Amino acid sequence: MGTVAGEHDPFPSELVERRSTYQISQSASNQIPVVIVEAACRAENLTLTTWSSSVVISNTLHKLDIPLAQLRADGSPASGAHHGYKILELGAGTGLTGLSAACIWGSRALLTDLPTIVPGLQANIDANTSLFQDQGAGAGCGTLDWNAPSDLFIYDSASASEVKVAITDDNKFPLVMAADTMYTEDHPELLTRTIATCLSRSKDARAVTCWPQRVCYLEPLREFWRLMEERGLVVAQEGQEYADFEGLDDEPLHEWSVWRWKDLQ
Ligand SMILES: C[S@@+](CC[C@H](N)C(=O)[O-])C[C@H]1O[C@@H](n2cnc3c(N)ncnc32)[C@H](O)[C@@H]1O
Repeated sequence: MGTVAGEHDPFPSELVERRSTYQISQSASNQIPVVIVEAACRAENLTLTTWSSSVVISNTLHKLDIPLAQLRADGSPASGAHHGYKILELGAGTGLTGLSAACIWGSRALLTDLPTIVPGLQANIDANTSLFQDQGAGAGCGTLDWNAPSDLFIYDSASASEVKVAITDDNKFPLVMAADTMYTEDHPELLTRTIATCLSRSKDARAVTCWPQRVCYLEPLREFWRLMEERGLVVAQEGQEYADFEGLDDEPLHEWSVWRWKDLQ
């Protein structure tokens, strides 16, 4: 990871804590530089940072068996309920996972989190404008609280306000992603309900998750698995990766999984 100088800075300098470039694998031999600003935002007592799960899953995306045709922009007008986004990231934090997915697959990602995190997400979208152009990608951000999974609020940077979009059968997402979002006993219920609410009911739809195997949270991880199956989802692909970063002060073993609807073949 290196620091990038001279990028447009959407935050006052005293709010910017760190600016890094993550070299993310687009294939076995090619990497793309995703710029991440870690600003001084907080939600639920967590300071905004880029967690190892998002680095691990971003570098694994090129190996996943995801039906890609559904992720390409279809040219239809994107407005109102027809938001035009193909990828939904839940609990995005700094947004590395969704930004990487949009760029690797040439798609449009909506990065969501709690309201206090949204300005940081917009900053990271702005920091990667030229990469999006190169990759034929796009991204937006907004609020999606897992306690109210049908109520999406899409941020409009021009007016600095959010527009409410109800999630219905017509505007669900073919790909839903979440990294390091399983760390309280409430999270399995909240997150599985949110995934089931937001994921398109199609045979190609996929949900991608990645978490560190922290011993203290193994019970919520098991419960997540049980509830996903109870909601009609089944694992299509899974694997493990070790995070091997300088200064990592967390569990290095990560498990990722790709889910699909069991009844739709
Ligand atoms: C450990 S961080 C992971 C961030 C990012 N995915 C990463 O891996 O770097 C968990 C994220 O989930 C978000 N979060 C927690 N509870 C949430 C909720 N009820 N609704 C939406 N986001 C939530 C937090 O604000 C935080 O950004």
